[in-house]
Amino acid sequence: MMKERPQGFKYVKTSINYVSYYKDGAWDEGSLNEYDMLNISIMSTALHYGQQCFEGLKAYRRKDGKIQLFRIEDNAKRFQMSCEQLAMPIVAKERFIDAIIKIVKANIDFVPDYGFGDTLYIRPFMIGVGHNLGLRPASEYLFGIVVSPVGSYFSGLAKPVDMIVSDYDRAAPRGTGHVKVGGNYAASLKAQLEAKKKGFADCIFLDPKTHSKIEEVGVANFFGITKDKKYITPKSPSILNSITNRSLKWLAMHVLNLQVLEQDIFIDELSDFEEAGACGTAAVITPIASITNGSHKHVFPHHEKMGPYTRQLYDLLTGIQFGDIKDPNDWVMIID
Ligand SMILES: Cc1ncc(COP(=O)(O)O)c(C=O)c1O
Repeated sequence: MMKERPQGFKYVKTSINYVSYYKDGAWDEGSLNEYDMLNISIMSTALHYGQQCFEGLKAYRRKDGKIQLFRIEDNAKRFQMSCEQLAMPIVAKERFIDAIIKIVKANIDFVPDYGFGDTLYIRPFMIGVGHNLGLRPASEYLFGIVVSPVGSYFSGLAKPVDMIVSDYDRAAPRGTGHVKVGGNYAASLKAQLEAKKKGFADCIFLDPKTHSKIEEVGVANFFGITKDKKYITPKSPSILNSITNRSLKWLAMHVLNLQVLEQDIFIDELSDFEEAGACGTAAVITPIASITNGSHKHVFPHHEKMGPYTRQLYDLLTGIQFGDIKDPNDWVMIID
C-alpha cells in the first residue's frame, strides 16, 4: 500500500530515536528510545552558550525497495569538525555511521516510497549538558539522532525561486560559518523571516567583511553556470563546505565537461550567469529565478524553469542518490 506523502519539511514523529551520553571522558553504549523529549539540566551549555552542533543527511528509497545513504562518511567528518570547533568531544566515524544505520533500520517504515523525491531526513546532533554556570565547555554531552520523513524544502520543486540579499551577516570571517553549529542558524532566522515576509523564498548572505560577494543562500550553497560553460561557486572560509556542492562540482567537471571554479562572486556582477541555483541536502538543487539587492533586481535568463545544465545536474545527483544511476565514486551505501 502506498504511504501518505510527507508535507514539505515538517517534523513527523517516528518510532525510534538514538541518544548517547558522554560523561567522565567516555561515551556510553547509546540507546534507542521511543520518547522524543529530553530531560537535561536547566544549566546546560547548549541552552545558555549555544554549545551544540548538528548534521543533516537523508536515507533514500530505491526503485527496488532497498534503502541507501549518500556520502555518510563526509557527514561524519564534518560533524567531527563542528564538535572540535566548539570544544566538544568527537564521535568516532564508525560509531556515527553505525548509529545512523541502526536508527534508519529502526524507522524503516517511515522511509518514503520511491518516485516522488521524498526521503527520510536524518538529524544527528550534539549538545553540551550538565550543571554549568560560568562560560567553559561542558563536562557532559549528549549525542542524538532523530529522523523524519520529508518532501521538498522549498515549495514547488524544481521551479525557480526569488531570493533577496540579507541586510544581516550570518557568520564572521574567522568565526563558525564553515561548521554546522546552531549559532549560525539562530543568527540567520531574522533575515529569513524578513525575506519570507517580503515574498521571497529565502535570503542570500554576502561576505561579512565587504558585503560585496555572495556567500550562502539560506541553508544552501550558491552556484551559477555561465554562458561559456563554467560551474562557479563561491570561495570563502565562512561558508559551509556543502557535500551536495562537492558532488555537483565533480559531476559538472567529469560528466558535463564544465569548467569548475571556486572564486569570488560579486553581487553586482551576475550578468555572466545563464543559470543559478541553491544546493544542499535539504534544498537538493533549487534553481534561482532572481536576486533582489536593495532596489536592484537581477533576473537570470532561465528564470521560468530549471536551466538545461541545472536540470542535468539535478537528474544526475538525484539519480545517484535514489540508485537509478550507477554511483561513480563509492558515494552510496545500501543499508537494507
Ligand atoms: C548554511 C548551509 N550551507 C550549505 C548547506 C548544504 O550542505 P550539504 O550539501 O552538506 O547539505 C547547508 C545544509 O546543510 C547549510 O546549512
